[in-house]
Amino acid sequence: MALDASPILHLLLLLAASASAVAGRRHSAPASGAGQSMYLAPSCRAHTASLADFGGVGDGTTSNTAAFRSAVDHLSQYSGEGGGGAMLYVPAGKWLTGPFNLTSHFTLFLHSDAVILGSQDISEWPIIDPLPSYGRGRDRIGGRYASLIGGSNLTDVVITGNNGTIDGQGATWWSKFKSGKLKYTRGYLMELMHSDTIFISNLTLLNSPAWNIHPVYSSNIVVQGVTILAPTHSPNTDGINPDSCSHVRIEDCYIVSGDDCVAIKSGWDEYGITYAMPSQHIVVRRLTCVSPTSAVIALGSEMSGGIQDVRAEDIVAVDSESGVRIKTAVGRGAYVKDVFVRGMTLTTMKWVFWMTGNYKSHPDDKYDPNAVPVVENISYQDVVATGVTTAARLEGIQGAPFKGICIANVTATLTKSRKYPWTCTDVEGVSSSDVTPAPCQPLQGAHDGACPFPTDTLPIDQLTLQQCAYDVPSTGTGGGGN
Ligand SMILES: *[C@@H]1O[C@H](CO)[C@@H](O)[C@H](O)[C@H]1NC(C)=O
Ligand SMILES: *[C@@H]1O[C@H](CO)[C@@H](O)[C@H](O)[C@H]1NC(C)=O
Ligand SMILES: *[C@@H]1O[C@H](CO)[C@@H](O)[C@H](O)[C@H]1NC(C)=O
Ligand SMILES: *[C@@H]1O[C@H](CO)[C@@H](O)[C@H](O)[C@H]1NC(C)=O
Ligand SMILES: *[C@@H]1O[C@H](CO)[C@@H](O)[C@H](O)[C@H]1NC(C)=O
Ligand SMILES: *[C@@H]1O[C@H](CO)[C@@H](O)[C@H](O)[C@H]1NC(C)=O
Repeated sequence: MALDASPILHLLLLLAASASAVAGRRHSAPASGAGQSMYLAPSCRAHTASLADFGGVGDGTTSNTAAFRSAVDHLSQYSGEGGGGAMLYVPAGKWLTGPFNLTSHFTLFLHSDAVILGSQDISEWPIIDPLPSYGRGRDRIGGRYASLIGGSNLTDVVITGNNGTIDGQGATWWSKFKSGKLKYTRGYLMELMHSDTIFISNLTLLNSPAWNIHPVYSSNIVVQGVTILAPTHSPNTDGINPDSCSHVRIEDCYIVSGDDCVAIKSGWDEYGITYAMPSQHIVVRRLTCVSPTSAVIALGSEMSGGIQDVRAEDIVAVDSESGVRIKTAVGRGAYVKDVFVRGMTLTTMKWVFWMTGNYKSHPDDKYDPNAVPVVENISYQDVVATGVTTAARLEGIQGAPFKGICIANVTATLTKSRKYPWTCTDVEGVSSSDVTPAPCQPLQGAHDGACPFPTDTLPIDQLTLQQCAYDVPSTGTGGGGN
């Protein structure tokens, strides 16, 4: 059926292309896709406008910061109760911009050839307050640069497209960071704070200055079908970092990173303990990760609000430092518990299993030496790993061992045989007989069959999506801005 329709579609596209050529190049009309388009999201929008309607110029050199801000400002009139919500359409083109915030009941939609470019003009990046659960910026004491795409206290936010691109142009940030030339902590590519119902899909994210997607103090979050790419030695370019967030689903993502592909966090030492907001009910599935210097999925190191109920399935990694890693330290307090990992195919890595109880990094020297984290009920099963240096490096905390570790059905093929393929201190647990090489003695408690894995379905898996249709805005008309 699609084949029968294609000559007509082709003709329409040609017509659209010539019409936009007449309309003028300045507005970078979509070269394709004119007419009705569709996308999936938790809710659709009654109003659509194009960035070009707000004075946007997609030439890669003109700043669109004012255009983005006035577009969102204008469209926020529809974000109230009964307003119908609005979509900002980013046409094909290269749209340079500094940070801007989103609004509620709002969709940011990128055409497949749209590229949002992060401004390299540091004066375009506002300084904002540190996160209360961190007490300071992550790189530097004090404030931090805003994130390229931000938002706070929002509900129902969609960021999607036909695999359009958001490129943070991070190289200048990385070199300034490495040479200690930044006064403030780097901004992230996206940060949504105190928000509910966030849906991020079908995008490519490139070269973030630091973390890519950072939902914080938020709930009901889906990140789906997102490609995240950064050089494997770029500093702190973590892929997706849910931080003090509940009900999160991350699926079908492909991430190449200079740090952890996914890192689940919940605040830092005494600041995170005081803020006391855990990350919980988190599903990660069908993740493909390349992270030679870090973990596929990290839990921590900032976990002082607690991390509970993490379910990871069908994970593929090619060249990573470790699989699902727990990072914590005395001073962090709280807990990491009920972590369930099932189905990992890992190629080339240092440690399949890595837990660290003495992760050395504190916000300041005021952390509480009696705030000892609890790590328990951690299951790993159905793991095939090849090109492994050491099967496991498990280091709990003296006097507070990591407990309830269960390991089943694991085959790790080492690059060369080792006397101690597992090194373990201060850990306790069980393993089944189908774990090779055989685990360290503290994990040799006998266990039959599979490790625990929850059988219930989380509400975030039942989030229903709607098929949304929109008319690609013709450029230079409608919406109105200025
Ligand atoms: C993402 O794009 C794919 C392919 O274009 C499409 O099948 C899928 O429905 C899209 N997903 C969402 C959530 O829009
Ligand atoms: C975006 O929102 C944050 C948090 O509310 C705020 O600090 C910042 O000033 C806002 N940025 C802009 C450009 O409005
Ligand atoms: C945003 O939400 C947080 C947490 O509920 C609240 O403390 C803060 O005052 C809110 N900010 C605004 C601007 O409404
Ligand atoms: C999206 O674009 C990236 C970068 O070009 C590419 O690697 C990826 O395969 C694309 N994804 C889809 C679903 O087309
Ligand atoms: C470990 O997780 C399982 C499965 O959710 C749960 O039934 C059990 O109570 C947990 N054990 C502990 C010690 O928390
Ligand atoms: C062991 O793991 C492999 C690889 O994930 C899987 O194919 C197999 O079904 C598992 N075996 C059992 C007994 O669960």
